[in-house]
Amino acid sequence: MLSEKTVQIVKSTAPILQEHGETLTRHFYKRMFAHNPEVAPFFNPANQTSGSQQKALAGAICAYAANIDNLDVLGGAVELIAQKHASLQIKPEHYPIVGENLLASIREVLGEGATDEVINAWGEAYGLLSGILIGREAQIYKEQVSVPGGWEGFKPFKVLRKEKESDIITSFYLKPAAGDALPTFKPGQYITVQVPSPCGHTTMRNYSLSDKPGRDYFRISVKRETGPKADTPKGYVSNFLHEAVQVGDSLSIAPPCGEFFLDVEAKHSRPLVLMAAGVGITPIISILQSALEAMPDRRIVCIHASLHEGVQAFRKTLDEMAAQHPNLTVSYCYSEAPPTGITRAAGDVTGLVNASLIESFVPDRDADYYFCGPKPFMVEIYHQLLTWGLPPAQVHFEFFGPRQELDRKAA
Ligand SMILES: Cc1cc2nc3c(=O)[nH]c(=O)nc-3n(C[C@H](O)[C@H](O)[C@H](O)COP(=O)(O)OP(=O)(O)OC[C@H]3O[C@@H](n4cnc5c(N)ncnc54)[C@H](O)[C@@H]3O)c2cc1C
Ligand code: HEM
Repeated sequence: MLSEKTVQIVKSTAPILQEHGETLTRHFYKRMFAHNPEVAPFFNPANQTSGSQQKALAGAICAYAANIDNLDVLGGAVELIAQKHASLQIKPEHYPIVGENLLASIREVLGEGATDEVINAWGEAYGLLSGILIGREAQIYKEQVSVPGGWEGFKPFKVLRKEKESDIITSFYLKPAAGDALPTFKPGQYITVQVPSPCGHTTMRNYSLSDKPGRDYFRISVKRETGPKADTPKGYVSNFLHEAVQVGDSLSIAPPCGEFFLDVEAKHSRPLVLMAAGVGITPIISILQSALEAMPDRRIVCIHASLHEGVQAFRKTLDEMAAQHPNLTVSYCYSEAPPTGITRAAGDVTGLVNASLIESFVPDRDADYYFCGPKPFMVEIYHQLLTWGLPPAQVHFEFFGPRQELDRKAA
């Protein structure tokens, strides 16, 4: 427990941290990578370049400071961070490294404002939060080894099959190289792939499992990231997987993690609405397959947005599922014209996913919503669901990167 005085100091410095949040975390990362280069391979350099990781950490610190006397409100955030940390194999011995660099950064950025009293209070507060995260991460690691087929850390998997799903998305079918059984997972969860990095270390990325649990393989479906502009480097791991990894090769994989999943045990009569844009279809298709099996009587709507048919994955699979399951309706939205030679089906929408499209399937709006896609798509959907007054328990989403602000004003 923190003393009343510590709580007061941390709360009173929260607005200052809010003001300096991103400067502080940028400084912190620079400092930590200079003083403790051994932790650099845990981080994705592209997230540092874009600033999304700094924003995520700044957000966590500010939320923590503001709620230091009521940490229960951070429950969801703690689970998200602990799952992400566990996916990347963050261990208790790494916490003092982050703590030391964080406190030194607060001192360096805030200057005279960072008195010994302030630093000590933040040191205590960091210790408390670290304890919560370390405790939850220990539970996750324990669960991962104790389930049938479970394992700890990274282990070699063999690439059984590579299958092109669209011009830019390829699926990889993976099996433990030693022939071990596979653990089950929750539909919507992701695994971590570790590959050699250009600087001679390793680098890791998360990939959602794009097939239902219970198969005798894991499947991931990876979009080749070409880079937002001609002069930006192309995505490292996605291109490595597309180009360098062949059938029969070995890949290092860490166990399934993540707090974005469908609880197939929970029974609800309201419809289930699944929405994806682009490669965001990967966790959604796993959720969809599991829902169709576990909830045959539940109304399910799946909306998939793509730029155009050439880049869209899994349309055939979705069409087949809809043909087999009368409780499923699928809808496709395309924001660009079809490629030459492709005629758009009558029901296909040319445009973006919007409120009236969702309402055309769920007029009373009361449903459980799961969605995943790029930020503009997420902001639009999230804003709409909030406007409709849906309770947070019915709104679930996954970011393919550090969680970002979805509020329209802040986004
Ligand atoms: C929970 C989760 C699940 C995910 N599931 C999937 C999935 O199912 N399928 C999938 O395809 N992806 C998924 N991702 C995304 C995936 O983890 C990777 O982020 C993605 O493959 C890009 O990685 P990369 O190494 O190819 O690109 P990175 O090297 O990480 O680069 C990312 C982007 O930044 C750009 N970039 C890189 N360096 C710079 C620079 N110096 N300046 C400017 N721009 C730069 C790149 O061009 C690229 O567009 C998921 C992510 C998360 C967090
Ligand atoms: C109390 C301490 C910590 C807090 C509050 C914290 C907070 C966060 C947050 C908010 C995220 C983003 C989660 C997301 O949206 O995906 C994150 C990711 C991450 N954290 Fe922590 N963290 C802490 C300690 C640590 C430690 C000790 C390490 C070890 C080096 C670490 C390494 C990472 C890495 C590697 C990521 C993913 C970064 C990426 O995407 O590139 N964190 N953390």
